[in-house]
Amino acid sequence: MAKYKYKRDVFKGLTPFPFLGEVKTRVKNIEAASTEFPKSVFNPNTLAAKLHPHYQFAKVAKVEEQPDAKVYTLVADEAKGTKSLAYFRAGQYISVVIDIDGAKVTKPYTLAGSPKAALGDENTSYTIMIKKAAKGYASEYILNNWKEGTEIVISGPLGHYYYQGLRDAKKVIAAAGGSGITPFISMARAIVDGEENFDLTILFGSKTEKDIAFKKELDEIVAASNGKVQVVHILSDEQKEGYESGFITAELIKKYAGEEDYSIFVCGNQNFYKFMHGEVEKLGLPGRRVRFEVPGEMGDPTQDEAYNGDVNAEYNITVVIRGEETEIKCQGGETLLHAIQAAGIMVTSDCRSGLCGWCHSRLIMGEVFIPEDHDGRRLADKKFGWIHPCATYPMSDIKMEVFPIM
Ligand code: FES
Repeated sequence: MAKYKYKRDVFKGLTPFPFLGEVKTRVKNIEAASTEFPKSVFNPNTLAAKLHPHYQFAKVAKVEEQPDAKVYTLVADEAKGTKSLAYFRAGQYISVVIDIDGAKVTKPYTLAGSPKAALGDENTSYTIMIKKAAKGYASEYILNNWKEGTEIVISGPLGHYYYQGLRDAKKVIAAAGGSGITPFISMARAIVDGEENFDLTILFGSKTEKDIAFKKELDEIVAASNGKVQVVHILSDEQKEGYESGFITAELIKKYAGEEDYSIFVCGNQNFYKFMHGEVEKLGLPGRRVRFEVPGEMGDPTQDEAYNGDVNAEYNITVVIRGEETEIKCQGGETLLHAIQAAGIMVTSDCRSGLCGWCHSRLIMGEVFIPEDHDGRRLADKKFGWIHPCATYPMSDIKMEVFPIM
């Protein structure tokens, strides 16, 4: 046996005898214990199930008409088995499951209310806001069909786009483009309600004064925030007193950040992200202080310079579900997830941005295009043929395995 050289002095006074005593005590306690299986509930499991339900049954309790949006209040559908909606962090989203003529569509929506409304076991609610001009058939379907009493299925709260005291500074500069304002409305409400404690300056970009969404709500929140929430409107197509004009540039961010340490949160559409990535880089902030929300569906793949497929081509997709094969069609300019759900197959999906991994599926055969900035796969996924169909376009006939949930 090899001899180890160590300083014995370090262990002086440490003997194994106290530990041997522990063993005896443990054996005695085990012998004295009941042999019956404990009937008590294991509280961490109950809490985890409450905080992270895979699905929740909900009902539309109220539909509020606003000039530019409809605001939906959702409550738990007790008759279907959901007693209360799960608590969330301001900035998180839910995925709504919609059945449109047999097509199972999921669509993520950021929760716009304060998390306080989902605290506790009774009378919990969520708020989502959908702009009337929202494009995409899920949003259009909701705007035209949801009314008081509509029963819906939603996911638990998702995403990591929320304030984290360990990585974020006490001051947050939020850069919002268009409907990217929603998570910041939730954060601002959470600050007013005492659910979050940081200083928030929202730089909100709109084209003109009349295009500013949710202006009334924002003004009310600022007035109630005791100076902790500030909103600065930036108009790109108009110069008007009381507003900044132009774009949300690095200079403008520095102007409102002042000398303090700050985190930057960015939310908006993909063009906004392209611009903001350049501006945020100029700030030279450490990575932990920079937060971009997931970009959402890419839509037309020709937006990506690397795409060289044919958006009008029609491919045969063989979808394998638990060993059974189903044949469907998919256009070159359509994501595999879109085609699968349009065929009525319900697979898990949440972010629809290629980044969360919920929709991961196995590519058995065929060629695909995956835009680089929507490719959230791990190295091992890439190596062993896993794809995220929400951000994958067919370039040939495809055979793939998916994992339906309903
Ligand atoms: S739904 Fe998130 S990666 Fe596909």
